[in-house]
Amino acid sequence: MKHGGSRRRRVSILTILVGCAVFGALGLLILSVREVDPQANPDSPLKQIHYQESDANSGGDDDGYGIEETTEAESESGDEKTKKGSNSCATVEQMGEDFETTFWNESLRVREIIRQHFALNGASRVRDLPPEQFCLHGFVLGKASEAGLGNEMYKILSAAALSVMLNRSLIIGQTRGKFPFGDYISYSNQAFTMKEIKHLWRHNKCEKKYGRNLIIRTDDFEKPMKTNVLCSNWRAWKQPIIWFQGTTDAVAVQFFLKNVHPEMRSAAFDLFGQPELLGSRPNVFGELMRVLISPSKDVEEAVNWVLGGGADPDITLHMRMLMNRSVRAVQAALSCIKKAMQNSNDVSKPRVVIVSDTPSLVKSITPNISKLAEVLRFDYGLFQGNISTAMKELKSQDFRVKDWGPAPRWVAFVDFFLASRAKHAVVSGAHRRVGTTYAQLIAALAAARSLGDNSSGSSFSFLSSFQSNLLRGGLRFQVGWGHVWNRFAGPLSCHNQHNQCAFTPLLPPAWWDGLWQSPLPRDVNRLELYGVQLSGFGTIDKIQLQSYCTSKKNAVKTIPIPL
Ligand SMILES: *[C@@H]1O[C@H](CO)[C@@H](O)[C@H](O)[C@H]1NC(C)=O
Ligand SMILES: *[C@@H]1O[C@H](CO)[C@@H](O)[C@H](O)[C@H]1NC(C)=O
Ligand SMILES: *[C@@H]1O[C@H](CO)[C@@H](O)[C@H](O)[C@H]1NC(C)=O
Ligand SMILES: *[C@@H]1O[C@H](CO)[C@@H](O)[C@H](O)[C@H]1NC(C)=O
Ligand SMILES: *[C@@H]1O[C@H](CO)[C@@H](O)[C@H](O)[C@H]1NC(C)=O
Ligand SMILES: *[C@@H]1O[C@H](CO)[C@@H](O)[C@H](O)[C@H]1NC(C)=O
Repeated sequence: MKHGGSRRRRVSILTILVGCAVFGALGLLILSVREVDPQANPDSPLKQIHYQESDANSGGDDDGYGIEETTEAESESGDEKTKKGSNSCATVEQMGEDFETTFWNESLRVREIIRQHFALNGASRVRDLPPEQFCLHGFVLGKASEAGLGNEMYKILSAAALSVMLNRSLIIGQTRGKFPFGDYISYSNQAFTMKEIKHLWRHNKCEKKYGRNLIIRTDDFEKPMKTNVLCSNWRAWKQPIIWFQGTTDAVAVQFFLKNVHPEMRSAAFDLFGQPELLGSRPNVFGELMRVLISPSKDVEEAVNWVLGGGADPDITLHMRMLMNRSVRAVQAALSCIKKAMQNSNDVSKPRVVIVSDTPSLVKSITPNISKLAEVLRFDYGLFQGNISTAMKELKSQDFRVKDWGPAPRWVAFVDFFLASRAKHAVVSGAHRRVGTTYAQLIAALAAARSLGDNSSGSSFSFLSSFQSNLLRGGLRFQVGWGHVWNRFAGPLSCHNQHNQCAFTPLLPPAWWDGLWQSPLPRDVNRLELYGVQLSGFGTIDKIQLQSYCTSKKNAVKTIPIPL
């Protein structure tokens, strides 16, 4: 059932209701409706489960700690649905059917938008504009710290996406003269630095001659009551620089898809596609990374060392085990790799690269994969290149050990760029959380790399490998607001699923408009803070949002930049 959209879902749910009534399963009906719509019954068992969430700035990726396996009692509520066997819930594989075929033409369309954007707004053209044009030009600032790679990279990418939507140039912020992760990542020279903007502002006499003071208008996405992401027309903002803060995942900038101003929505649709057509959305973040970032020379040296002059890997297996070797997770990942191989069956002996935080896991899974494929991995202890000598003295911090295992920090960057060389598939498995921001970005970049400029498409796929244990309570323990499966984690996700190997969206959805998407009660509450009334099925009340925005105080927060 492709391109279902919310209308289709309402129809299908109606069908279920009518069907149930016809067959006289009235008792069951009441039970299932109460279960499916958490708002209809605030006392439903779903509400009583205590969700915990990690803070994006805990230093790691977007992993949520403290979520332990569900107890038997907690997962009981779902048994009815699976036993019933009706389609009032879906497995992850069923949810992933929408993503089995990718609309590569849409990604190529976005690639062209991005190309035109940087041709027009890139630093090489804009810095040479005549003073009065330059002084009237607009910019978007992307600023990241050096916390978790996935979250921080999304800050830069969100700024880049916003710069496209607003037709402004991109600035990448530096700290003490260094780009974020500057030792490991090189950035496109089509972005400005703040230092250059200040210099050009003085040089062109923007303040004195044109009366344009260099100020930044800020908006913090992590302050739901204050942000103007849904209520303001950002294209009409006059301030020279805009900084959208707190955009630590794929979700924040996609909030513009529901902005009340048609002009903002249309800019968002151009870039991200319609939120209800889940299967045909472009690989926006992958396309942005493809032009904005590349490995530093030292990191590239390490990547090439692993490849040993051979071809790029065919498949990446990303396994985040958090020091835990689970036989079941390994079994699930192995069968998912086999599925990926069937999809790229023109390769006789594929090369599989394994990326993991747990050296012992790599050791134990390698013999099994070796039967099917050539196994590659970055064994940092053996690498003698420039980066290993330069970084030797930097010891891994404790909080990172918890998140990433004992490997030094820079290894994650080598792994990232190595993994994103995969030509055919990225498989993400885990002991606990599968679709983290790090895995998402690896897959997105690999997909963009696999798509040739003038090609009609690519065979690339992104797969999520779930062992059954992780799905005892459906997807609701794959929590985390920026997790790629979060928008599917609500009551429409079946409990007690078997191992799953599911096609996964390259562009994580930010809304719940698709057929099988449903929110967690916690997300309904969170959206309420943004002024959005989200139903248990994930539809939103537009009229209510409109009136929320009308009554909202439109505060303008700016920061002056001394020249
Ligand atoms: C991509 O292909 C689909 C299906 O053929 C079509 O509906 C869509 O309009 C195409 N998009 C572009 C940008 O050509
Ligand atoms: C984008 O800005 C340029 C000037 O920098 C202008 O010529 C162009 O029409 C704008 N495009 C859109 C779609 O607003
Ligand atoms: C490791 O995983 C197994 C099986 O999933 C689980 O029973 C065990 O508690 C886990 N151990 C740790 C330390 O997380
Ligand atoms: C991996 O291979 C070993 C040795 O052949 C075997 O005992 C084990 O069951 C295999 N593991 C999986 C998950 O298939
Ligand atoms: C490693 O560092 C040395 C000395 O700075 C330099 O000459 C060499 O080119 C570097 N190697 C690579 C692959 O960048
Ligand atoms: C793709 O096609 C365009 C024109 O259609 C051409 O200018 C460009 O060189 C081609 N690129 C590649 C990589 O073949």
